[in-house]
Amino acid sequence: AQPLKDARFLVSASSVKTLGVCHAEVAFVGRSNVGKSSLLNALCHQRGLAKTSKTPGRTRLINVFLTGPDRWIVDLPGYGFATGPAKEREAWQGMIEGYLRGRATLRMVYVLVDAEVGPTRLDLQMVDWLREADLPCRIVATKADQVKPSRQLAQRRDVAKVLGLLPNDIAWVSSEKGTGVPDLRMEIAATLDL
Ligand code: GTP
Ligand code: MG
Repeated sequence: AQPLKDARFLVSASSVKTLGVCHAEVAFVGRSNVGKSSLLNALCHQRGLAKTSKTPGRTRLINVFLTGPDRWIVDLPGYGFATGPAKEREAWQGMIEGYLRGRATLRMVYVLVDAEVGPTRLDLQMVDWLREADLPCRIVATKADQVKPSRQLAQRRDVAKVLGLLPNDIAWVSSEKGTGVPDLRMEIAATLDL
């Protein structure tokens, strides 16, 4: 059977406290509009599984998708969504950090960065925070189709360098074109013991 094929939405939560237990989970984080929900859909072969939007801030809750028996992929709200009251933004941050710190079954945090834009200040903060919290993380460069073919190699090198990584440490994907999606799917399936 194809891994991640029969994924379905399980539950939304506004706090880690109300989440149940599972065998293993991976999470997607990244700034608003970077393509978290689109990547989840591409990985699971389902266009409408997670709601996507041109408007940043579409995902506002911890959204859990079941991708196998007690195996979760968790789509988190994006950070760096500038509009909206400061109180609301702080609440989002608390929700995300509470989730990331509060899950013993969390096997990998995928930090999505825009391939063309490269890591932003907030992306770097997130990666530092994860390293400090001793959480395993992997960088995924999204919307790779937006980088001109002639610049792909140099861009891969530059994005890696900013993060203190080597080009091959970063997964390079396009949810739109499907580039890199099968490899990442296999990696996630293995991480979830699927
Ligand atoms: P929030 O839920 O607001 O945090 O956003 P998100 O990170 O879930 O982003 P989402 O998947 O909703 O995608 C945001 C926008 O980027 C949409 O307009 C998508 O069509 C577009 N997009 C996503 N993936 C790709 C890609 O691989 N290539 C291109 N060109 N556009 C993409
Ligand atoms: Mg989303």
